[in-house]
Amino acid sequence: MTENDLDVHRSTEDVTEALRADVKAGLTATRKWLPPKWFYDARGSELFEAITALPEYYPTRAEREILNREAGEIARITGAHTLVELGSGSSEKTRLLLDALTDHGTLGSFVPLDVSESALADATESIAAAYPKLIVKGVVGDFTEHLDLLPGEQPRLVAFLGGTIGNFLPAERAKFLSSVRDVLEPGEWLLIGTDLVKDRETLERAYHDAAGVTADFNRNVLRVINARLGADFAVDEFRHESYWDAESEWIEMRLRATRDMRVRIPAAELEVTFAEGEYIRTEISAKFRSGGIGSELAAAGFATERWWTDAENRYGVTLARSARE
Ligand code: SAH
Ligand code: TRP
Repeated sequence: MTENDLDVHRSTEDVTEALRADVKAGLTATRKWLPPKWFYDARGSELFEAITALPEYYPTRAEREILNREAGEIARITGAHTLVELGSGSSEKTRLLLDALTDHGTLGSFVPLDVSESALADATESIAAAYPKLIVKGVVGDFTEHLDLLPGEQPRLVAFLGGTIGNFLPAERAKFLSSVRDVLEPGEWLLIGTDLVKDRETLERAYHDAAGVTADFNRNVLRVINARLGADFAVDEFRHESYWDAESEWIEMRLRATRDMRVRIPAAELEVTFAEGEYIRTEISAKFRSGGIGSELAAAGFATERWWTDAENRYGVTLARSARE
């Protein structure tokens, strides 16, 4: 393997087996659900990139504003030698951190990890070309399983951007934060982006744009199941919905059956029926309150070092230090 290469932790068979297990668990439940990582095949990753440019989808712009303003400070505080990025996607905003850490003179390597091999291959190629002195080591893997495999000289800074932490349920979130803490030595760093609670209309629109890109993205999970498990979902007969659950403080993404349906999923040996109006929950995106992730970070063994928001207070970025021995 060359220095700028992808490290793939799963075979196609492993991935298909994991999807089969998730589909069985989620679509046989009384309230049907699917885990969000299955949106992201090559088409899903492209659709997500398109979402980040939509007028309604403010989180990417708000996070970029913060990183643009604070990247120098982040480099100064952390002095990171390795930047690890979880759920890295295109790593576009991450360039602000790479620039600042390169200017600071400490950075030697960049380790992006993502389930989407196509997104990761594109990102590592263009970043390796733009930062010729950097060792770029892409890892195709699942951030709920493969954190122990992250290489790199210490101190490491682990970036988890895009509000992806909100895509976990609260109990999964606690487990994830602890697992990140477990692979870090005391004194290493976590930088985490969190979207903030705001009015229903802004939130629901961010996940239900006028151009229909998010609807297409949401339905992509059904296309992935059709392609990988030979299923026959009538993809266009599911309606995309985003719903702000004000009690749980999360956005729920749903796919609602527009008629009674019977779906065959041969590779999972499953037949699933939908009544008209029944829906699959395909994702949650939890929103946080000012400093809200601080207590959860503390419970996982992190000490919050800094907390920043954008000028309009829409989005927060927290820098935390692994505290416990
Ligand atoms: N960090 C980027 C992308 C956010 S979208 C940004 O801020 O714009 C979420 C990203 O996480 C996608 O690239 C998706 O492929 C990846 N992802 C989702 N679930 C994952 C998992 N379980 N393990 C690893 N990557 C995952
Ligand atoms: N991490 C992103 C978020 O929660 C993922 C995302 C954005 C998403 N738009 C979406 C997931 C639409 C499903 C549907 O903001």
